[in-house]
Amino acid sequence: MVALISGGAHPALAGAIAQRLGIELTPVRLSHYPDAEVVRLEASVRGADLYLIQPTPPPPEAHLMELLLLADAASRAGAARITAVVPYLGYSRQDRRAGGERTAVGARVVANMLDSGAIDRIVTVDLHQPAVEGFFSTPVEHLEAFPLLLEALGSVPADSVVVAPDLGAAKLADRFASALKLPMAAVHKTRLTGVEVVATDITGDVRGLRPVIVDDMITTGSTVRAAVSALREAGAAGTVTVAATHGIFSADAPSLLSGLGIERLLVTDSVPLESSGVAHMEGVPLATMLADVIRGLHDGHSLEAYRSKR
Ligand code: R5P
Repeated sequence: MVALISGGAHPALAGAIAQRLGIELTPVRLSHYPDAEVVRLEASVRGADLYLIQPTPPPPEAHLMELLLLADAASRAGAARITAVVPYLGYSRQDRRAGGERTAVGARVVANMLDSGAIDRIVTVDLHQPAVEGFFSTPVEHLEAFPLLLEALGSVPADSVVVAPDLGAAKLADRFASALKLPMAAVHKTRLTGVEVVATDITGDVRGLRPVIVDDMITTGSTVRAAVSALREAGAAGTVTVAATHGIFSADAPSLLSGLGIERLLVTDSVPLESSGVAHMEGVPLATMLADVIRGLHDGHSLEAYRSKR
């Protein structure tokens, strides 16, 4: 028996997955006490193949804790197997001591937390670095949104260029460029702080071309803004398209992203998008893919078609 539980982070996505699977969500009660959170399952999950749907958008620590509590409650209640479906896994950008020798490796801390609990398997989408999968002892099904974003982009004007807004996105940009039969360029980016980045150089010719910027995530929008201004300086013309897997959109992102000539901004619904306030945003639904993956896991089928190819 497949059972599905939604944490508090993204009930709309959980509902869409349940609908696609043709099952009802197992009800839970999430109570926020002044000093802690209490979760209680409101129906039996004994013997169930249970999927907990809980991305970790801001505040990530609260959503992570809720996921751990749900897994604990489910395990104590006799679920046969517990899979955490975490389409966006917060802290995964902190995959090394990039900020110097006194920096924490947050992705490893999160992996240790998820490993130490009752979770048997983790399903996630587009980790910032694929190598983060190896931080976990728990098996991770690392899926990719590339085919969904590519399909949602549809046909792109022939005078476009696919742009990696930093060198970390170069492989992704190369895949989009090959699929769309377009040239590719890459921006050289330096991050100064969490909210400040500078673009120092561009590899590739963008003169007279419309940028299609692709990335794994947008948080403050600084990376996209720096890329667009460097591209304009280098002679890129016309409207800008942006496609990214995770639209985290911090509070200032809508104003940072406005006025850049962005005509389309595609992000998946790995996190709730309703209140993003970002102009020209198009949500790309993950529910069908996640429902198919859950069905595949339950039936013991290969998930190779969905796995990250980065
Ligand atoms: C960084 O390496 C990522 O791929 C994104 O480019 C970055 O996280 C986006 O963050 P922001 O929108 O705050 O610049």
